[in-house]
Amino acid sequence: MDSISQIKQVLNIVDVVGSYVSLKKSGRNYKGLCPFHTDHNPSFMVSQELQIYKCFVCNDGGDIFKFVQKIEGIDFSTALEQLAERAGVKLEKTDFDPLTQTKKKIVLINELTAKFYHYLLVEHASGKVGLEYLKNQRGLKDETIKDWQLGFAPDTFDTLKRFLLKHGYTEQELLESGVISQSYNGTIDKFRGRIIFPFTGIDGKILGFNGRTIFNKDPKYLNTAETPVFHKSSFIYGLDKARVNIKKEGVVLVEGQMDVISAHQGGICNVVAATGTALTEGQLTLLSRYTTEITFCFDSDSAGSAAVYRAVDMAEKMNFNIKVSIIPKPYKDLDELVKNDLVHAKDTFNNAMPAYDFFLLDALKKNDKHTALGKKVIIDELTPLFSKLSNVVLLEHYAKKVANELDLAEETVLSLFKKTTTTPPSFESRSDDRFKEEAHNIAKIDYKTHPEGYLIALLFKANIDIQRDIAYKLHAEDFENSVLLSIYNSYLEYLQKDTKSFNIKSVEKSLSDEEKELVEELYLWDLDGRFDLENTEKLASELESTLKRIKKDAAKTTLKELTEKIKLAELGNDFEQVEKLSKKVERLKKLLI
Ligand code: UTP
Ligand code: MN
Repeated sequence: MDSISQIKQVLNIVDVVGSYVSLKKSGRNYKGLCPFHTDHNPSFMVSQELQIYKCFVCNDGGDIFKFVQKIEGIDFSTALEQLAERAGVKLEKTDFDPLTQTKKKIVLINELTAKFYHYLLVEHASGKVGLEYLKNQRGLKDETIKDWQLGFAPDTFDTLKRFLLKHGYTEQELLESGVISQSYNGTIDKFRGRIIFPFTGIDGKILGFNGRTIFNKDPKYLNTAETPVFHKSSFIYGLDKARVNIKKEGVVLVEGQMDVISAHQGGICNVVAATGTALTEGQLTLLSRYTTEITFCFDSDSAGSAAVYRAVDMAEKMNFNIKVSIIPKPYKDLDELVKNDLVHAKDTFNNAMPAYDFFLLDALKKNDKHTALGKKVIIDELTPLFSKLSNVVLLEHYAKKVANELDLAEETVLSLFKKTTTTPPSFESRSDDRFKEEAHNIAKIDYKTHPEGYLIALLFKANIDIQRDIAYKLHAEDFENSVLLSIYNSYLEYLQKDTKSFNIKSVEKSLSDEEKELVEELYLWDLDGRFDLENTEKLASELESTLKRIKKDAAKTTLKELTEKIKLAELGNDFEQVEKLSKKVERLKKLLI
């Protein structure tokens, strides 16, 4: 047996998914809130029998490997390694692809580099200047320096390169990991004369580095370029240390990594930073795995910039609850605030304001609210922001607040904010492919458009006696959809065998891939919680009425066909045929009453 099947045999998808998502039993399946989109009604289903999961809104689905890959943001081979370890399965050499080998090597180089630079900083004479800088100028304790594995890269050309070559790595490998770079006459250490901040991933592996100059060189901070293991657009500094606290307290996002380190040293441990890049959607997605509560903490000089509005807008689209806190003057950033007034720093987060209060505050700061023109500009700035509020109470609250500040009538402000109210996103208005796919997926098994599909989904939830009772009453001519008919035929064959309890895996055996996919969807479909699946009587009566509806639909279709045929027979003066068909019509009509 290959490693994948071995792992699947040992691990249960319900346990694996259950360690990330809280699952509740629902009929034969489990359901919970989808971790891959902001889910308010549980639409995420997991099947123990099929060992698969599926979200009926974002349409994501797959097996244990796909799930772990997606939720951890890792590639297949890393997921394979993680799950193999969890299952106690030993992997064969052939399970690794060349890219995984490269990545492993880069991580090893990074780890050795971090160790080397840390050693130079805390123990070697050449790092003394760095250690003094961190302790005296930046107020870091020895313990903090150790916890964050900070280092020092001396201002020389190839100290690190020589060290790593001696350890058996090739120049090419060092270039690939980004710790050395190409210069006009050969390769040199990338970081020179800098404090080194290792970038640690959530699994504790070192993915890249950032270096701050201590000799006033440009750029002030320099970070690893993209490598097979480091992608700055989905990296969050400090998340490895902060994630447990983030789950409990929400996340505080700051601008720089010194702010993160100082905050943690001061005991504020839910702080992270998006370093070296404006905040990206990938970084927010990563954070959304841990929390929906986000506080943006901006340096007083940057608060109010377009980047801030962009960040808030992006987080809002992803359904975060957003607060904003601004570093109070005279401090420049969180690092300074924490070092000078820790109590006040903690208060800053406790008193963070909702994003809308921040918008108002910022607009008031930038304009003169006492002049007519100032008022107009403020309203122009706020209208597109506040008209996004779909909650009437919030809308009124802020309309009142703005009206008071600007000394305007509340109704005037409210009507302005309401006029441009945007409609919430719907399937039609979301044009990207994923949303089209979602709409398609829901339509595919909509119980109104495909009652036969709905009936099969219902049957899969019932015990085998009820299944037999209802399924035998259904006939080939009742089906409009040919894939569903073919599924039904195989299913019927299965039911005719002398099985005592229902097993979806046996139903699947004789199906094509296309049919299998649809069957799995029907099996996992929770029927949108329309009724209680544990209640057998209710289930049976829903089955009966669905069956009736299908029979009626089929009768209607036949009726239409018959009427057409009668017309043709009349045209051909075939009265015998007309009479025969008319009798059939009468019988059908009675059925339809
Ligand atoms: P800041 O310039 O605000 O620096 O950059 P800081 O964090 O306050 O740094 P100190 O206190 O002077 O040491 C904020 C963040 O932006 C990134 C770094 O990650 C930095 O922490 N940055 C800044 C760069 O990537 N490159 C730069 O040249 C400057
Ligand atoms: Mn700073």
